[in-house]
Amino acid sequence: MLLAAMQRMRIKELLAAETPPGEVRVQGWVRTRRDSKTFSFLEVNDGSSLASLQVIYDASIEGYAANLPHLHTGSSVDVSGVVVRSQGKGQNWELQVRSLAVLGAAPETYPLQKKRHTREFLREIAHLRPRTNLFGAVFRVRSRLSFAIHRFFQERGFVHVHTPIITASDCEGAGEMFRVTTLEGQAFTAPEAETRDFFGKRTFLTVSGQLEGETFACAFSNIYTFGPTFRAENSNTARHAAEFWMIEPEMAFCDLTGDMEVAESLIQFLIRDALDHCTEDLAFCNEFVDQGLLERLRLIAGRPFSRISYTDAVEILLRSGKTFEYPVVWGQHLQTEHERYLSEEHCRGPVTIYDYPASIKPFYMRQNEDGKTVAAMDLLVPGIGEIIGGSQREERLDRLSQAMHSQGLREEDYWWYTDLRRYGTVPHAGFGLGFERLVMMVTGVENIRDVIPFPRTPRNAEF
Ligand code: 4AD
Ligand code: MG
Repeated sequence: MLLAAMQRMRIKELLAAETPPGEVRVQGWVRTRRDSKTFSFLEVNDGSSLASLQVIYDASIEGYAANLPHLHTGSSVDVSGVVVRSQGKGQNWELQVRSLAVLGAAPETYPLQKKRHTREFLREIAHLRPRTNLFGAVFRVRSRLSFAIHRFFQERGFVHVHTPIITASDCEGAGEMFRVTTLEGQAFTAPEAETRDFFGKRTFLTVSGQLEGETFACAFSNIYTFGPTFRAENSNTARHAAEFWMIEPEMAFCDLTGDMEVAESLIQFLIRDALDHCTEDLAFCNEFVDQGLLERLRLIAGRPFSRISYTDAVEILLRSGKTFEYPVVWGQHLQTEHERYLSEEHCRGPVTIYDYPASIKPFYMRQNEDGKTVAAMDLLVPGIGEIIGGSQREERLDRLSQAMHSQGLREEDYWWYTDLRRYGTVPHAGFGLGFERLVMMVTGVENIRDVIPFPRTPRNAEF
């Protein structure tokens, strides 16, 4: 009795029909059931939309009495019937059952009941939470954003590159890498262990596809990667995950200004796409997650972003009269509290900070003529802080070698990367957009754990 996906009607499509679709078959999970003397009233949801289908199950239908004890919240059903105009408010159509089969019963102890559950509780049942309104909305928006990212780049002629997940290089130089090895026990600590390991060298899960992406940009001009990245940062914050997805475009013949333009137009494009295609889900988020959400998204999509140099940003912070937990010092990282002040209070919208001190940035960023700063940029958004980090790359071999040397990197480990500067080097730039932080911004959800299907954070890899 299995149906090919195309032979049944999805509830979203049914609810949107202009004229009654006649006789249909739908399949989904029961959200609620109410009984009267002569019929039961079911809400059935198949994940295609936030709204559920109202189903009238008359007691005179064959099998009713036998099915009823199995028709609790959470059970899965296969329903055929006739679509009629709904008597209730809020919906055009409802379904009058001709036949109903319970595919999988759920007992009354089903963990998701009609009441509102906390997000913390729902994380413990991450295998069931996609069946709630909130997580349904979040993961449909996540899916749409993923598609919109490909649309943005494909429509502009960027080539999508699959960069490796296992790598031997530490792109960000922060040492926050997960080791990949097949060695066990004593073999792991034995002398020369690395050469006996699977790849004959030390390997890790990638922290960024950028370096490999640059090689393809130096052939295709404009490329992007969109893949999982891993960071063994031991920071248990609402914005960091050990496994997250990153979009990394890389553009040849492009400088820092061009880089900022692409970053800003990407963010605006993605917000507009979500506003146009996730109307119902974003209205739900606006009501139940963050009541300023839609207004903020429209504002971000509708006007140019601010740009401030790092040096000016430090001045602004020092003159703000605010007391921050971390001191503001030229040459130090901006902390989240600083980033949020700049974006939320000073600019009241997204802001790109550029030209950071060289000493706090990775080796590959292009050195500015002042001898102190590099052509880096971070895009900060209200509520989150950094959502994008990028830079123009150092295309001059001598400067690159010198930066690698002073950051303690062995040039021979990166011979293929420096080769790009030997054979037809070009000015080029790129950035990384944290996909989860994007989903947080678009849905208003405050914790990164709630926009990832199965989040990986320190001491947590369940499911
Ligand atoms: O600023 P990051 O570290 O930049 C890079 O990795 C560069 N290689 C990108 C490039 O130029 N191609 O990371 C980029 C973005 C951040 O702005 C943030 O949105 C996200 O990735 N990010 C994280 N998201 C979730 N959890 C973490 N632990 C993250 N670390 C970075
Ligand atoms: Mg960064």
